[in-house]
Amino acid sequence: MSEEMMSRRNFLGGVGAVLGLAAVPLLASAAAPATAAAVTTAPVALPWPYTHLDAETIGRRAYELYYLQGGCAEATWYPIIEALSADNPTTWGTLPKKMFGFGGGGVNAWGTLCGTCNGSAAIIKMVIQTAAGGTLIDNDFQFYSETPLPTNGIDKAVRAGWTPAAGVPAPIPNVPTSTAHSPLCHVSLTQWMATTGATDGSAQQRDRCAKACYDMAKHTVELLNDYFATPSVTDSAALDATYVGCVTSGCHSKAGMAEHGKMACDSCHDEPVDHATH
Ligand code: HEC
Repeated sequence: MSEEMMSRRNFLGGVGAVLGLAAVPLLASAAAPATAAAVTTAPVALPWPYTHLDAETIGRRAYELYYLQGGCAEATWYPIIEALSADNPTTWGTLPKKMFGFGGGGVNAWGTLCGTCNGSAAIIKMVIQTAAGGTLIDNDFQFYSETPLPTNGIDKAVRAGWTPAAGVPAPIPNVPTSTAHSPLCHVSLTQWMATTGATDGSAQQRDRCAKACYDMAKHTVELLNDYFATPSVTDSAALDATYVGCVTSGCHSKAGMAEHGKMACDSCHDEPVDHATH
C-alpha cells in the first residue's frame, strides 16, 4: 500500500492497540445452553412492531447495561428489546439477552464497526424494512461520526437526580470529547484516547464507551420516534462531504470500481476532494 495514500495510518497505528473491550468480562461466564424447546410457532416475519419509547430512559438503561450485560453493542441493542418485550411477547419477547455480545470492541475486539452503531442498525432494520430504514441507519452513523462524543448529555440526568443501578459506576462529569469522523471503533476510540490521554481498559475509557451507548441508544430512539410519528417525512441523510464529492457526484462512482462505502474518504486517505485536478 502506498505511503502517500495511507499515511494517516501511521498516526492511527502509532497510538497503540485500542479496543475498548475491557468491560465485557461477563461474557465469559455464560451459562450452558438450555435444551431446545419444541418449536410450536413459525417465526414472525419482519418488520416487528414499534411503539413510541422514552429516549432518555432508553439511553440511561444503555449506559447501565454497558457495565452490567456485556459491552457496547449489547448495551445499545438490548434496552429497546427489553422495552418492547412486555407488549410483544411473540416477537421482541422471544429474543435472548447477550445476542449482541459479539459486537463489543468493534466485533470481538477487531476494532471495526463501533458496537453502538452495530446494535442501533440492527434495531432500525428490524422495525423498518423499506429503504427508509437504510436512510435512518445513514443518519445514525453520520451522527456517531460527526458528533463530539461522548456528549456528556448524561450529566443532565445526574443533575436531575438520577443514579445508576447497583454495581454501575456514576458517570464522570464533563469529560473531554472527540469527533471520530468515522464509525470505526479503532479510529473513534484512538482519537478519544489521544485527546484525553486515557488508556484502554481504564475507568475513563469505560466511562466514555458507556456514555457513547447512552448517546447512540437515545439518538436511535429519537430517530425511530420521529419516523413512526410521520413516516412520510424521512430526512435524507447528509452524508460526508468527501463521499458526496468523491462518489455521488465525483469520479469514484464509475462502474467497476471497488466498493468505497459511505465512510468519509479523508478519514483514511490524505488526498483533497479535488486531487484529480492537481
Ligand atoms: C477505512 C479506511 C478507508 C476509507 C474510509 C476509504 N478508503 Fe479508499 N482505500 C483504503 C485502503 C486501505 C485502500 C488500499 C490502499 C492501497 O493499497 O494503497 C484504498 C484504496 C482506494 C482506491 C484505490 C483502489 C480503487 O478502488 O481504485 C480508491 C480510488 C479509493 N480507495 C477511494 C476511496 C473513496 C472515494 C473513499 C470515500 C468514499 C474511500 N476510498 C474511503 C481505505 C479506505
